[in-house]
Amino acid sequence: MLRVPVHKIQPGMVLARPIPVPNTPYRFLLQRDREIPMDLVPRLKQLGVLEVWVRERHLEFLEELIDEELGDHQREVYWNVRKNFEAIGHNPAMQLDVERFQKSVGDLFVFLKESSCGSVLLQKLDAFDNYLLSHSANVCYLSLLLGLKLERYLIGERSAKQPREAKDLRELGLGCLLHDVGKMRIAPAILNKPGKLTPEEIEVMRMHPVFGYEQVKGRVSATVGQVVLNHHQRYDGRGYPARIDQATGERLAPLAGRRIPIFCRIATVCDVYDAATTKRCYHGAKLPVQVLFEMREFCSGMFDPVVERAFYEIIPPFPLGQTVKLSTGAEAVVTDFNPRRPVSPKVQCTRQANGETVADPSLEEMDLALYPDVDIVEVDGVDVRPFLACQRVNEELSEALAL
Ligand SMILES: [Fe+2]
Ligand SMILES: [Fe+2]
Repeated sequence: MLRVPVHKIQPGMVLARPIPVPNTPYRFLLQRDREIPMDLVPRLKQLGVLEVWVRERHLEFLEELIDEELGDHQREVYWNVRKNFEAIGHNPAMQLDVERFQKSVGDLFVFLKESSCGSVLLQKLDAFDNYLLSHSANVCYLSLLLGLKLERYLIGERSAKQPREAKDLRELGLGCLLHDVGKMRIAPAILNKPGKLTPEEIEVMRMHPVFGYEQVKGRVSATVGQVVLNHHQRYDGRGYPARIDQATGERLAPLAGRRIPIFCRIATVCDVYDAATTKRCYHGAKLPVQVLFEMREFCSGMFDPVVERAFYEIIPPFPLGQTVKLSTGAEAVVTDFNPRRPVSPKVQCTRQANGETVADPSLEEMDLALYPDVDIVEVDGVDVRPFLACQRVNEELSEALAL
């Protein structure tokens, strides 16, 4: 099967995965094996569906890699948050339904731990119209993936706990699900402002971790509360909120480095990535390859280096099933992710440089790591060459492996 952006749907394309009804779990706009009617396309765009999976005879093996149950769990998490946040929106006296969140985060954690889906990012929830909710569900999912990758590090960083408890990620997932809950107390005029925020408005926005902490305090564990309070705290000590001595009212030195709880350090990386790859009122969605480039280039010192390195090992710059253009002029589909050479995955050519369709792409498989002269140069009309340089080889990882 093939990932197809909604604006590239062609007559005759047949669904390999059902299209879920955005905002509603267990209901689908169109079932698998159905041809996509072209008059559905404007509706999909309107609902915020960004891409669909369509049948491709030679790429059936991707169907086994991309587990459908993952989407069910992601939508379940999303749906629970949506119901509860909306109820609070109508009636601020309503409480957060922490027990329900705990259950769905726990189910997602167990699913990822036990399935092969837990090794790399396969699909984010994009098909939703509410940024705060889909972002919360995505950061939760990403944090669980990253936490699973960091099990050994977690045992060391949480050494006061038994190893089994140290690598239990339920509190991480819950903290990430709730990390921006304080934004519900920010005026929509500031929260959804399309233009640049004024310095005063930035100050208001920066209150959201404290607002969120006040909302969850006493209802969740201290570990979960820490994630909500400190998800904007940077590894180099920058970030917010400021720490104030409760007794004297004096400003304390900021948390920095490994003094920042490890779950907060994980949340920070996932939060930055998801915010940048999601369409917002003030910027469009960016490609993963661009966001990963920007994180490496411009976020120096912001992240725990161990966490950051692990993140680059689980997030493919070019998602599986995506159609790309190669520097040879050929068109290809991404079929694998190589964490050591992130921008040089395996691909199968589907169209030759001369425009001819390849009859059997599986016979035209190329491991780009073995072809240093061939690059992916374009994705969905975007020239990606400027984003390749620093990602060509995952240098730190290669160094670590060489030692
Ligand atoms: Fe935040
Ligand atoms: Fe966030």
